[in-house]
Amino acid sequence: MDSNLKNTKLSKLIDLKKLERVNKPIEAANGLPNECYTKEDYLAFEREKVFFNKWTVIGVGSSIPNVGDTIPYNLLGIPLIILRGKDMEIRVFHNVCSHRGFKLIDKPCNLKNVIRCPYHSWSYDYKGNLVATPHIGGLNVHHSEKFNKNKSSLKKIKTKIWMDIIFVNINSNEIEFDDYIKPLEERWSKFIKKDDQNLIVHSKDFGYFNLDVKSNWKFAIENYCESYHLPTIHPELNKVSNINDHYHIQGLPNRFAGQGSKKYDQPMKGNKKFNTFPNWDKDWLKNSEYVALFPNVMIGLHIDHFYVFWLEPIAINKTIEHMHMYYIGNDSANGEDLKELRKQNARFWKDVMIEDISAIEGMQDGRNSPVYNGGNFSPVMDQPTHQFHKWVAENLI
Ligand code: FES
Ligand SMILES: [Fe+2]
Repeated sequence: MDSNLKNTKLSKLIDLKKLERVNKPIEAANGLPNECYTKEDYLAFEREKVFFNKWTVIGVGSSIPNVGDTIPYNLLGIPLIILRGKDMEIRVFHNVCSHRGFKLIDKPCNLKNVIRCPYHSWSYDYKGNLVATPHIGGLNVHHSEKFNKNKSSLKKIKTKIWMDIIFVNINSNEIEFDDYIKPLEERWSKFIKKDDQNLIVHSKDFGYFNLDVKSNWKFAIENYCESYHLPTIHPELNKVSNINDHYHIQGLPNRFAGQGSKKYDQPMKGNKKFNTFPNWDKDWLKNSEYVALFPNVMIGLHIDHFYVFWLEPIAINKTIEHMHMYYIGNDSANGEDLKELRKQNARFWKDVMIEDISAIEGMQDGRNSPVYNGGNFSPVMDQPTHQFHKWVAENLI
């Protein structure tokens, strides 16, 4: 679509000058205007410019471990299919039959050999090729000279799996994922080498929970970017790791931001601990890093575990947070020995994430105030948050 046209329309919803003010130096900047959190119509722009143009997260590979496992996913109204093929590759397709447009997959399931459309039974293989068109030429005539099957495959989406996270670029217009993730991989090379990425194993017992949040998805990212709220929102966590034990993370080029801690202690039960990453630099043993990779995933890297906390936007003021936890090697991830410790660790993070919900929902409520102008940033504490605001504003304009 013509971008001028789009800007004209966006300007009907938001005074574009307000978006430009986001880009000022932090001392003078305002945050994103209220409309970005409260106007249902605005979501169409965000869907296109933020979620479709970028590398967006729609799940993790561990949710579909077996050949033929498939889950439907609804990205702000657009139906998608996530599917594990016979070659173990994960592919993502638009969830629509090429015949009369029936939605193919309705609920998570394990497919037997093909994706079969419930309407007239056209069938697609796991690579999306249309392989059967029963009765297309009349009763018991399954081929038609006048119809070329090859032109009616499922529409495949540009997909990349990294650290088990499924990223999609719906509009196929973002830079290659390997280049996209390079700055973060370089930053983390003191913790994990490229091969170490393969060591993470999803925990089957205490490896997943989700939370419903009555707020816009962006507040979860903004809140994740700062440690300023530690003393007020996380009094217990603050006792072991306070503001001064944290440092800002501001990825350049601007595509991620967050916080690091210098005081991470491995959880223990008796004398039991989780395995650790083998190449973690000895000078950084106590560091852990919490990075929001824009738009919608927050990841936490520790010497002994990794988590993926991704956001499913449902409506302008509704989000589902999905948390997946990983350990180093199968013993730590699934061994009976460490079960209690995994339970304790999952509980710890769940409590932290629940504490954050009060902050996130509080901001959502406040954005209904007509006098709020996007607010100000602490020039010292809010730099990573401001960075995210700038990223959103730049992508919208
Ligand atoms: S709509 Fe799918 S087979 Fe007809
Ligand atoms: Fe928090």
